[in-house]
Amino acid sequence: MFSCKTSSCCFQRFVRAILLVNSFNDILAEATVFKNKDALSPHFIPESFPHREKEIEAIMRSVSPALKGERPRNLFVYGKTGTGKTTCAKKVMNEFNAMKRKAAMAYMNCRIYNSRYRILFRLVSEFVPEHAKTGFGLSFLYEKLLDWIEADGKNVVIILDEIDTVKDLDNLVYTFTRSNDDLKGGSLSMLGISNKISFKDRLDPRSKSALYESELVFPPYNTQQLQTILAHRAKQGFSEGVVAESAVNLAAAIVSQETGDARYALKLLQKAGDVANDTKTGRVTDREVEAARKIVDEDIAVEAISTLPEHQQLVLYGVSGVSLSGSKYSRLAENNKDFMLMGEAYDAYRESCSKFARQARSSRWFKEYLNELQLLGLVSTTDSGKGVRGRSTLVKINYPPTRVKEIVDHLLAPSVE
Ligand SMILES: Nc1ncnc2c1ncn2[C@@H]1O[C@H](COP(=O)(O)OP(=O)(O)OP(=O)(O)O)[C@@H](O)[C@H]1O
Ligand SMILES: [Mg+2]
Repeated sequence: MFSCKTSSCCFQRFVRAILLVNSFNDILAEATVFKNKDALSPHFIPESFPHREKEIEAIMRSVSPALKGERPRNLFVYGKTGTGKTTCAKKVMNEFNAMKRKAAMAYMNCRIYNSRYRILFRLVSEFVPEHAKTGFGLSFLYEKLLDWIEADGKNVVIILDEIDTVKDLDNLVYTFTRSNDDLKGGSLSMLGISNKISFKDRLDPRSKSALYESELVFPPYNTQQLQTILAHRAKQGFSEGVVAESAVNLAAAIVSQETGDARYALKLLQKAGDVANDTKTGRVTDREVEAARKIVDEDIAVEAISTLPEHQQLVLYGVSGVSLSGSKYSRLAENNKDFMLMGEAYDAYRESCSKFARQARSSRWFKEYLNELQLLGLVSTTDSGKGVRGRSTLVKINYPPTRVKEIVDHLLAPSVE
């Protein structure tokens, strides 16, 4: 029990308690446009998955030899973000494991299990947990996994999702491929998934040919496909009559124009529902979708910037500052008015380092940071062409600079206790 020094303190606590109970009741009693918000979450696996029937069948066919006691060929699945790769692979895995044969499929998120050791450890933890103790070496784990496969000649398929994030991928592919020579019964196959097309070039030619025994590409969704997908999910997630058909069409049009990413489309719809709840309109129309778009884009920018290494944040801060005050280049240029010279951007980066008391890195590093930021779409660079001052690289920020500065300020400024 808490003891209070004064009776007024007790009274205040009592009042707060009453208010809290009341406010919980108020929250629970609030009207909502959602019937089942989970159905709109990215982790939800819907029963029907429109426009991916062919891809699901292709994965099923590819892994089905394992159910007949044979080794499936390795499969590589490629497609842009939000095209349904992870969900399709998981759906197939669930059906596969429900067949209860001498076979198993396991899912590995390589963003978390990002090395050969971690992946082996995770597999041993799942299949032979009694041997999963930290400190055991790689070869011990490998042998335990192989013993388990061999015991009754299982055919095992490992889904390696976001496989491009595995640090020692050549070693992993080599180990898994070699395991089939070491196994006296059963087999081990890989189903790799990635949305990075260029990662293939990083691989050793031997790993490449092993991993790409067969390949499946998920094309991006077009507007009509996104409309059906969204309408389907909206039916599961929202109460009847809440979502206007035009709102679904607008969300689909926005997304197909930009990326064709179904995850973003669902986020848009879910946020539009939140807006309808907050503003108590009770309907999701074009207006709510437009408002949601701003919120979602902002969330994405904040997330993208906050997960950057510090020096890339400092580059963004500097470039935003120049963009706001107007670059020297923009005053002279006829075209490309949003751009600044690389030298101006570097000076601004050095100033931001001194503002936040960080040690500035060399211009070689600075160029590396710019390259990374460009790959993420946060900045753009272009060649100035032959000008009065000779050729130079020009730099431009792709997000509202005021907002970028606020975000970085919030992240890097020392917090006041
Ligand atoms: N055909 C579809 N029908 C219903 N929902 C879909 C469909 N395709 C994708 N989605 C939804 O879009 C979201 C993203 O799908 P998923 O995670 O499978 O994409 P991904 O291709 O693995 O993307 P990433 O490359 O970013 O990992 C999920 O919420 C998923 O349910
Ligand atoms: Mg995925």
